Amino acid sequence: HYLDLSAASRAIAEERARARRLTNIEFHTGSLLDAGDQGAFDYIDCCGVLHHLPDPSAGFRALAGALKPDGGMGLMVYGELGRTGVYHAQEMLRMVAGDGPNAERVGMARKLVESLPATNWLRRNQAIGDYKREDAALFDLLLHSRDRAYRVPELTAELDQAGLRPVAFIEPALYDPDTFVRDPELRRRLASLSWLDRCAFAELLSGNLRKHTVYCVAAARVADTVAKPTDKAAPVLKDIEGPVLAGAIGPDGSIKVSGDGMEMGIRLPPMAPAILRQVDGKRTIGEIRAAIGAGEEDFRRQFAALYNALNGMNLMLLRYPG
Ligand SMILES: C[S@@+](CC[C@H](N)C(=O)[O-])C[C@H]1O[C@@H](n2cnc3c(N)ncnc32)[C@H](O)[C@@H]1O
Repeated sequence: HYLDLSAASRAIAEERARARRLTNIEFHTGSLLDAGDQGAFDYIDCCGVLHHLPDPSAGFRALAGALKPDGGMGLMVYGELGRTGVYHAQEMLRMVAGDGPNAERVGMARKLVESLPATNWLRRNQAIGDYKREDAALFDLLLHSRDRAYRVPELTAELDQAGLRPVAFIEPALYDPDTFVRDPELRRRLASLSWLDRCAFAELLSGNLRKHTVYCVAAARVADTVAKPTDKAAPVLKDIEGPVLAGAIGPDGSIKVSGDGMEMGIRLPPMAPAILRQVDGKRTIGEIRAAIGAGEEDFRRQFAALYNALNGMNLMLLRYPG
């Protein structure tokens, strides 16, 4: 099922479905506040919508109410720190580009962007840049009629009031302070914090998360729902072939990743090239070990390290065949 208030958005989604020959989607035009009317869902994905609602909390509750008891949900809402400067510019534009025609407001927004002094927070914000080139991005960022942004504790409070709990943030490594902190004493203190407090800490530390993608389940659900790299799981690489990624590993054993104005090297274990050459989205972890002929203990340790590093940047996922 597809649900959106706007007929224009639906037309784009229908066109995309046609281009991909997807024929099993039921399209609905309506509010997610009525999502429960379409039935109870195994999985709900709601990307970039809740932060636009007049009452986002009601939106979180409506989606939670449309989920099966053992269902899962993936949500994306704006992150506050990575959008530093955006709300300053929105405020300025409300003062000088009030409610004229959109073309005129875009023109004023462009003039404002070109007038930002070097000290302005939007100009200093390296996590956001596409508004400098595209009018649609400029409008969405600076002239949207309503949006708000969340820090991790505010987002988890929203989930909590809706009877949901987060199980993973994407990318996991960006919500892990150990990705950035090397000092052993700081790390030791951080180790005593809860997972969510560590996520909140990591957000404050990097300061560049401009959105939060969170997976959640019903708060009452006690089972651990996050996939684990067991022998029967097949690793799947996102947007890159295994051998290509193997070839991108530098002489120091690390690969470079970048996002939201930050460049990072992630170190991979010595067995990474051999493993990655076997990853085709179908072969299971057990089959990959057999193909490489590695000792069980050593392989398990190195695969776990590889998976943690790549899954941490949302590059490797798991599929359970059958
Ligand atoms: C930024 S777009 C995201 C579209 C799509 N989810 C995606 O990721 O490409 C926000 C969408 O939210 C829709 N929207 C806003 N309020 C809504 C509501 N109460 N119920 C359903 N859709 C809504 C808008 O029509 C718009 O298409």
